Amino acid sequence: MSTRFKVGGRTHTIRELFNENKEIDTCILGWIQNKSRVGGVIFLTIRDGSGYIQATFKKDNVSGEVFDKVKEATVESAVKVIGKTKIDKRAPGGLEIVGKDFEIIAKAEPWPIVKSAVKAPSFLYDIRHLSIRGKKASSVIKIRSKVIEAAADYFFKNGFYLISAPTIVQSACEGGATLFEVNYFGKKAFLTQSAQLYEEAAIAALERVWTVEPCFRAEKSKTSKHLTEFWMIEAEVAFATHDDIMRLEEELVVEITNRVAQECAYELKILGRKFKPPEPPFYRITYDEARELIMRKGIPFEWGEDIPTEGEKIISNEFDKPVFIKEFPLSARSFYHMTRPDNDKVTLSSDLIAPEGYGEITTGGQRLSDYNELEKRVMQQELPRESFEWYLDLRKYGMPPHSGFGLGVERTVRWIAGLKHIRAASLFPRTLTRLNP
Ligand code: 4AD
Ligand code: MG
Repeated sequence: MSTRFKVGGRTHTIRELFNENKEIDTCILGWIQNKSRVGGVIFLTIRDGSGYIQATFKKDNVSGEVFDKVKEATVESAVKVIGKTKIDKRAPGGLEIVGKDFEIIAKAEPWPIVKSAVKAPSFLYDIRHLSIRGKKASSVIKIRSKVIEAAADYFFKNGFYLISAPTIVQSACEGGATLFEVNYFGKKAFLTQSAQLYEEAAIAALERVWTVEPCFRAEKSKTSKHLTEFWMIEAEVAFATHDDIMRLEEELVVEITNRVAQECAYELKILGRKFKPPEPPFYRITYDEARELIMRKGIPFEWGEDIPTEGEKIISNEFDKPVFIKEFPLSARSFYHMTRPDNDKVTLSSDLIAPEGYGEITTGGQRLSDYNELEKRVMQQELPRESFEWYLDLRKYGMPPHSGFGLGVERTVRWIAGLKHIRAASLFPRTLTRLNP
């Protein structure tokens, strides 16, 4: 975080003070994370968006007025600290601010998040508007920001355009079972499940496109990997095959994981997460091979079904880095998938499974680009043709082979940050049982 954009008289961010790592005069703005007193010395841990630093105020070194203000300041008050940095091995990070002047900008009431109050894990989510200030909670959100930053850098470096698709839609991308209905001036509409169909329209204008958007799924089961509102990074590429798109996903995941490991090392440490970015190439197995592996562990699994949750866990724990499961049966996939030229029951599609039990983080594949075949699919699956007319229409005007994928942002963060539950990867999670705050 840079101070090029200066506000409130601040001269440095906390990160900049650590980067300078020498004794300088400073004025910082932030919040009191922690406060303690030993004799005539008050120790404050100050937090800003860039980090944490200790500030000490000695009764003998400052005016009585300043010392009283520090005494009065409560945990989570917004404050201004003026002083000089001092290299001191005893201070966390080896640097502290010796305080000279102090201002309470906004005083906080007694902070409700104390150990005795946290009786159930849901408590912290009930007051998520406050608990996001916690060291662990905010580290996850910083990692999430880095995941999107790294993805954006990757796409822009590779000639992709960022587009934004509507979130209120009439055409269901991923089937009717998880649609949220919206009353759109008396007409039936839905919250989007994926930007994919719109990306497919955009590639004829822009060739390579990507999006990062909220997606909605009325997931009716309680799991540790489903949100009802989550963010997806999606990309679609004209002239690309399924193999091309797997390579793209691999490169993207390598870029994201390396950037987080390098640039969020501190946050990963706070979370106690030892994360090693995976080396390409990732493994590639077929659905049939995955099914073999899963059945060998005694899990029943009919050919043609989607991979059962338990089975996905088995695959995820079997490999030491991400693995693509490719060539899913058409019966387990959405309507738009292209099938193998020699087998119309098997699609050119894949899921990328993260290791250590975290499971699916992406789904991708090649799309049907032929009008007649797509029309047949729409009929076979009894989809409401009127809402797919525009999507069919695309196939009349120069639709080349094309492929794309979607990566779940919170799923990816959950894996990288080593989170038990996906809700921790969301600032304000939405699940079957949570709509507040
Ligand atoms: O596998 P999904 O449903 O694939 C699609 O939506 C395609 N249209 C994407 C595309 O090809 N452009 O969703 C993609 C990813 C999943 O792999 C998963 O990471 C995430 O989105 N995801 C969810 N994350 C959290 N909660 C949920 N309920 C999710 N559903 C999917
Ligand atoms: Mg999927």
